[in-house]
Amino acid sequence: MQAKLPYDAVVFDLDGTLTCSEDGILSSLRYALNMLGAPVPPDDELKRFIGPPLRETFTCTTAFSDEQIERAIRYYVEHFDRVGLYLYSVFPYIRPLLHTLKQNGAYLAVATSKPLVRTKTLLEHLRLARYFDRLVGEESNDAQIGKAELITRALPETCRSAVMVGDRKYDIEGAKANGIDSIGAGYGYGPEGELEAAEPTHIADTTETLAQLLCPGFKPARGYFLSMEGLDGSGKTTQINRLAKQLKTYGYDVTQTREPGGCKISEDIRNLVLTTDNMEMSAPCEALLYAASRAQHVHEVIRPAVEAGKLVLCDRFVDSSIAYQGGGRELGVKEVGQINEFAIREMVPDATIYLRMTDSAQALKRRRDASKPDRLESQPQAFFERTRKAYDQLIKENPKRFLVADGSKPVDELANDILKAVLDRLEAAEGL
Ligand code: TYD
Repeated sequence: MQAKLPYDAVVFDLDGTLTCSEDGILSSLRYALNMLGAPVPPDDELKRFIGPPLRETFTCTTAFSDEQIERAIRYYVEHFDRVGLYLYSVFPYIRPLLHTLKQNGAYLAVATSKPLVRTKTLLEHLRLARYFDRLVGEESNDAQIGKAELITRALPETCRSAVMVGDRKYDIEGAKANGIDSIGAGYGYGPEGELEAAEPTHIADTTETLAQLLCPGFKPARGYFLSMEGLDGSGKTTQINRLAKQLKTYGYDVTQTREPGGCKISEDIRNLVLTTDNMEMSAPCEALLYAASRAQHVHEVIRPAVEAGKLVLCDRFVDSSIAYQGGGRELGVKEVGQINEFAIREMVPDATIYLRMTDSAQALKRRRDASKPDRLESQPQAFFERTRKAYDQLIKENPKRFLVADGSKPVDELANDILKAVLDRLEAAEGL
């Protein structure tokens, strides 16, 4: 059922409203000023460049000639496309908010003083473009146009009630010129007092407040459960850390955790199961301890986080038990599966990344070289070979859930492959 929204058309400014643009813009500005041999002001002053058109700010704040301003803009764009773009991030709450608005039938647009081509590149890179019915930015044939005109172009032909959301006075003044309500994004880049002086209809000091203003009673939808698997030495820890960091820049609310462990009781079990003091531990005891640790982890961390709308990123989950205890220890895939069903109570990952190492001996050598091996890592090579085969079988049986990546690729290339595959999956799961 669709909720009744206070505004059925929402026009957003970009920098400082949807995206945290500071690092991307400031690094491009510093580069442009340096290239012209001009002094680089402190960050607080540079931040005033965020919002108004670049040419206008260069004209007002530097003694540059027209020719120097053109060169500064060229340097800015060159750096932005190469570096700046990748320093942008999506503010928390924005992605689930856009999703909910869209699901409830709102018309969504962006009106920014950024050139349209760069706006499109940026929103596509951040995977936000698909939420918007219209993107409006400066076009190459525009003489400098003001925010009011950009907002006019962004508004739909008909709507019940529209609002402009932005972090600078230009956004609020532009909304007034169009006769529509405005929400000042107090978390953005406006200098102290600027928004209040412009008198928007509302002020949102956080994106959480913005969500409540646009969707009263807003609560993010169910989250997503993603696990990562691989043999010891497959580079899993490096990759999961990078993935968590990158997904945050895309505006996902990430809870990163690991198995065995992830909460006090489960970490205590981890120590018990991995210490080389316990070499006499039987295989069934080991399998039950992993399952017990998992039961607590699901109860205390994973289920509450997924229900609160978070993206849970878990280093190992049930597949590890099936592969290591079911395959490696030869306890049987079915038997280990059963004790784990009892432990997880239907909390199955929505997707699982598997870092495939074709050579388990190479993976293990990598792991053993890195630090002193734990009890599991001290197992003979044949154990890991059986584990690898059990993983292969699991992948064959669950082709939709597994995303298989080539663990022997260089770290950066592998990280890009994983990120792209995960973003594609998340997009598909949203089903807009
Ligand atoms: P992990 O923390 O991934 O290893 P690392 O110390 O290299 O980061 O996992 C610890 C060990 O526990 C690893 O050898 C795999 C094993 N394990 C199982 O045998 N069964 C399981 O269910 C889990 C979660 C891990």
